[in-house]
Amino acid sequence: MSESPVRRMANVNGTITPLEDARISILDRGFLYGDSVYEVFRTYSGVPLFCHEHFDRMENSARLVHMTIAQPREEMLNEMRRTAAAAAVPKDQDIYVRWHVTRGSGALDLVPSRDLKSSYVIIVKEVPKWNPEFYSNGMRLAVTHVRRNPVESLSPDIKSGNYLNNILGVAEAVELGADDCLMLNPSGLVTEASNSNVFFVIDGRLVTPDAQSGVLRGITKSAIARLGSEIGCPLHETKLRAEEIVKTVECFVTSATREVMPVIGVRLTSGEWRQFPPGGGEVTRRVARAYKESVSRYVRENSGLQLV
Ligand code: PDD
Repeated sequence: MSESPVRRMANVNGTITPLEDARISILDRGFLYGDSVYEVFRTYSGVPLFCHEHFDRMENSARLVHMTIAQPREEMLNEMRRTAAAAAVPKDQDIYVRWHVTRGSGALDLVPSRDLKSSYVIIVKEVPKWNPEFYSNGMRLAVTHVRRNPVESLSPDIKSGNYLNNILGVAEAVELGADDCLMLNPSGLVTEASNSNVFFVIDGRLVTPDAQSGVLRGITKSAIARLGSEIGCPLHETKLRAEEIVKTVECFVTSATREVMPVIGVRLTSGEWRQFPPGGGEVTRRVARAYKESVSRYVRENSGLQLV
């Protein structure tokens, strides 16, 4: 993969500029209240991975917050292509595409006026470069006092532009000497990390917290659920109590930008660390390999979606 720099560009309601010149109104409800939803796509050879799954999730997030997205999918895909073209992305370079939709700008009032039209921002930039040790060794998670928003309050299934809960979680984790948080829900069930889903191997089974525990329905996680049976690691979505982490022998996290990232240790509520194999155990490695293969397959089968 070429390492030539991508020109970071933004597209605000159709106006494309370098990222640092992009402007939104201070009356935008996304800025004022976090009244917005978003998606992060990652491309491989120019193809946005699991493109339609991201659009489906965006539409679901918008539905859950009673927001209407003014532009149809095809128009947004074209806007992403225009933004990527302005970023002069080389064909062989993978990019990060963030698509943010806010409820729009209007009166300074919590009650949205009926005539608001949604606004959008697209950001095109390089894929985040995670610390290579997170792959060669693994990242460290800490169970935090900060709990994940309960499903009944601000459901984690809404990918909203308000990440304060996650920011508080990861800030506490860093203070505890970890790289990221492992948040519990208010009933003490394991949920997820600040921006990734979490998986464990317990009693020979690959498990991950279920939707009712309060997690984002990760698109990478869905891909792993589909692959699981093929590779002899069927995924069990279940409720997992914090105390059960001591039975874990492997752990990893997933997201569009992290892919499959091993976890080397989890700091338990007691302050003790539970350690896992460096670079991921056997199941983690098998899942990571299968995920990479499924990405290549997707890119081969969906070349028509190319952004670059
Ligand atoms: N984050 N959980 C949370 C809270 C997330 O923000 C994300 C994604 C995930 C994983 O979802 P997916 O597999 O669809 O990427 C789980 C993105 C990458 C972000 O905000 O940068």
